[in-house]
Amino acid sequence: MGRFAVLLGLPQLAFVILVASVSLPVPGAQAWSKEGHIMTCRIAQSLLDPEAAHAVQNLLPEYAKGDLSSLCTWPDQIRHWYRYRWTSSLHFIDTPDKACTFDYSRDCHDPQGVKGMCVAGAVQNFTTQLMHYQHGTSDRRYNMTEALLFLSHFMGDIHQPMHVGFTSDEGGNTIDLIWFKHKSNLHHVWDREIILTAMKDFYDKDMDLFQEDIQKNFTAGIWSDDIMSWGDCEDLFSCPKKYATESINLACKWGYEGVTPGETLADDYFNSRLPIVNKRIAQGGVRLAMILNRVFGYHEHEIPAPT
Ligand SMILES: *[C@@H]1O[C@H](CO)[C@@H](O)[C@H](O)[C@H]1NC(C)=O
Ligand SMILES: *[C@@H]1O[C@H](CO)[C@@H](O)[C@H](O)[C@H]1NC(C)=O
Ligand SMILES: *[C@@H]1O[C@H](CO)[C@@H](O)[C@H](O)[C@H]1NC(C)=O
Repeated sequence: MGRFAVLLGLPQLAFVILVASVSLPVPGAQAWSKEGHIMTCRIAQSLLDPEAAHAVQNLLPEYAKGDLSSLCTWPDQIRHWYRYRWTSSLHFIDTPDKACTFDYSRDCHDPQGVKGMCVAGAVQNFTTQLMHYQHGTSDRRYNMTEALLFLSHFMGDIHQPMHVGFTSDEGGNTIDLIWFKHKSNLHHVWDREIILTAMKDFYDKDMDLFQEDIQKNFTAGIWSDDIMSWGDCEDLFSCPKKYATESINLACKWGYEGVTPGETLADDYFNSRLPIVNKRIAQGGVRLAMILNRVFGYHEHEIPAPT
């Protein structure tokens, strides 16, 4: 950048930066939007037991002022940095086209084929790392703050249905279409467009109101009976597989279903898919809280499961 600044006058430089920031593909395009991540993390933090709340406070850097959600998009910001390039395949899973299934040993790897380098492997990895915090061992191999932020972020991503999508279209990223009146793509519709349209149409663009509405629906509303079953999976290793399987099933049933590349998606698609997005944000938040309560709870995960 320094050299360009010398060659170009400042106004031109400003223009170049403006054009670049408008027209380059957004690096964070492969993730729940920041709104999706923020709501997931706020829901989770509101459901923490005192021990887990305390551990989270301890691990957050001071400038976060105790607010986990303020750093839940951090993994998107650093994924292209050289030091963190190893994390870039941890945001998603590519499954075989049209298979509509997830198989950990078949699908969970990075482009070089290294096993475990996908969002399901990452959830396991960072959950396991956080367990060391609970045991009070200061394991120098791991940075517990980073583990918390990665886990919180990837629990959001694994619930975004199109993050477990088909390989050849990159989870819908290459399926260009029109969202109401502007250009978008199928992946981005699920990351962000549906959320933004809902905020604009129903919540006066206020994310807090949106989040409260989601929260109401699992405390007393439509999901209050389901919520116990959301935590229903055997162990640390089977849970992320379950979440990923749910996502690819939803991607097939609601994401890809009926979509023709290039077409305009509007009210019908929005109205029928919004409930899915709402529920996935709720599940991501509730389940993140369950995991954190478990790993930071003093004894709970040492007690053998009832048989
Ligand atoms: C787990 O985290 C460590 C860094 O703490 C990293 O080196 C490793 O690649 C990660 N593996 C997965 C599957 O996320
Ligand atoms: C842990 O990671 C955070 C975020 O990258 C960093 O600011 C902090 O210095 C790291 N802590 C240690 C002990 O390396
Ligand atoms: C909450 O549930 C009601 C139905 O009881 C539904 O109309 C509304 O869209 C839901 N809101 C969210 C954000 O899930």
